[in-house]
Amino acid sequence: MCGIVGYIGDQAAVNILIKGLQRLEYRGYDSAGIAVMENEKLAVFKKEGKVANLASQLNGNHLDATIGIGHTRWATHGAPSDKNAHPHISEDGKIALIHNGIIENYLTLKSELTAKGYHFRSETDTEVLVQFIADVHKNSSTSFAKSVQLALQRVVGAYGLVILNVDEPDQLIAVRKGSPLVIGRGSSANYIGSDASPFLEYTNEVTYLNDDEIAVVKRDTITLTNGKRGTLTPYFEHLDLELDAIEKGAFDHFMLKEIFEQPDRLLDCMRGRILAQSGNIKLGGISAYADKVYNAKRLIITACGTSYYAGLTAEYLFEDLCRIPVEVEYASEFRYRNPVLYPDDVLLAISQSGETADTLVAVDQAKASGSTVIGICNVVGSSIARATHEGIYTHAGPEIGVASTKAFTAQLIVLSMLAIKMASERHTIQESFRHQLILELQRVPALVEEVLAHADHIRSIAQKYWLASNFLYLGRGFQYPIAMEGALKLKEISYIHAEGYPAAEMKHGPIALIDAEMPIVVLALKDKAYDKVISNIEEIKSRHGKVIAIISEGDDAMKRQVDDYIEIPAVMEYFAPLVSVVPLQLLAYYIGVIKGCNVDQPRNLAKSVTVE
Ligand code: G6P
Repeated sequence: MCGIVGYIGDQAAVNILIKGLQRLEYRGYDSAGIAVMENEKLAVFKKEGKVANLASQLNGNHLDATIGIGHTRWATHGAPSDKNAHPHISEDGKIALIHNGIIENYLTLKSELTAKGYHFRSETDTEVLVQFIADVHKNSSTSFAKSVQLALQRVVGAYGLVILNVDEPDQLIAVRKGSPLVIGRGSSANYIGSDASPFLEYTNEVTYLNDDEIAVVKRDTITLTNGKRGTLTPYFEHLDLELDAIEKGAFDHFMLKEIFEQPDRLLDCMRGRILAQSGNIKLGGISAYADKVYNAKRLIITACGTSYYAGLTAEYLFEDLCRIPVEVEYASEFRYRNPVLYPDDVLLAISQSGETADTLVAVDQAKASGSTVIGICNVVGSSIARATHEGIYTHAGPEIGVASTKAFTAQLIVLSMLAIKMASERHTIQESFRHQLILELQRVPALVEEVLAHADHIRSIAQKYWLASNFLYLGRGFQYPIAMEGALKLKEISYIHAEGYPAAEMKHGPIALIDAEMPIVVLALKDKAYDKVISNIEEIKSRHGKVIAIISEGDDAMKRQVDDYIEIPAVMEYFAPLVSVVPLQLLAYYIGVIKGCNVDQPRNLAKSVTVE
């Protein structure tokens, strides 16, 4: 969702901000803007649409300014437009503010300000906030930073804010509650971002703001305070991230790059955790809570979007291997449902970004109920990673394509390792079987590589079906969540309506949709459900539906039964989702590309959903 960049130093701020905004494009947005300070005045530029529109409006001007802020906006209050884009400016033209999050009591504040004679140019909650801060500052005799803190005491909601005030021209104010902000320390320059991507090429010395902390960021200093605890010493850490991890390289799109990276990222995810010599699994990230986790009475998995499907897949894994009851919940439902939680429950919160608002609240609730809460996140230092008791990072590297691919398979690897480890701790599997599982899991990256070699064939299938307006995806058992994930990928990337169903449920509704125009992707692997799936395929064929099947390599009988097929190598049922999802990612990708869609930044979608 919205992205933030701030800069103070001795270089042209405009260039750094525009480049930073381009790096933030992946988060999803519909307008962009910057404010820089020039000759003791604010120069503000805002444009609906892409950052490129904003850059062409600037046309290489305003290069003297060395301090500024920039924002990509994903509309919540008010349509995407120039006037609703950030930064928003106080009525006296002195204060510029950018904001990620939502101000819940903005209407109350707005009517108070209107009664005082303030006027508003936009429909946003953010403009209300900047006017409110300006009003509090006007009526107080403290520093601007103190006024911001005072004003925020009245504000209900979530925010990551960066503020520039021409009266205090040598500083940016950054403050956070519920929406992430990270500060990068450079040489004679400092940076602020909603994540590190806008400034990664200048520094990787970073400090993350915590809720209720306010930072005064000057060219050479960063002062951190928290209203209750006074001045704090910022803790800087070295971010282990290379620039090429956030660039496309030779690939046409980030999504394609990320699909093709999967074998390497899956190896990264297992590295150091599967111990070659002993054949043991070591999950250092949860060592302090290991007893609680392995002796849990129940597992509750909560997540959103693709991460939720990773959770659903894991339900099959944990129940089968660990004989533990598992519930999988959309975080947005879980948090509002007054869930029954016990101290011996373990909640696994899965999130690529580690910032999804609903998942974060679910984490807080579960912690408040006394349950143990473990995060499975990709982004190191993210809010969920920090809010949970302990966690296991997926180490998939930055995922820039909005539709999740490599982060999903990395989540499945982490969940597989956790399930094997838990099963062995609970003695629900034999030692020899544990060995077999570990050996098989280690084969997965090479199997994914084999599937990637079929990319051209998958593209030719995409060419055949891209004009369809509906798709159905069917799977059973471990392949049912993958059917749903495959359908989600197609929807996200190509805007084609697609539904994922358990294959047997087809008869209870979706079968009514089947005709000669309808492609149906069936996960038809040689697993426990194979015979049943064959019957489902026959039911489809007798209604003239077109079957695209994901089949086990060498299944000649199945090849004759279906219209098109993609073969995947044989793999144990537990880990088959890791392999079978890959052709579905590629199918969605190629259909999206053939249709001319913006596959990396699909319309209306955001990479990290930081509003509820
Ligand atoms: C958004 C993204 C999806 C992602 C979901 C959950 O909808 O577009 O790709 O699966 O959020 O995100 P998380 O970061 O919590 O995994």
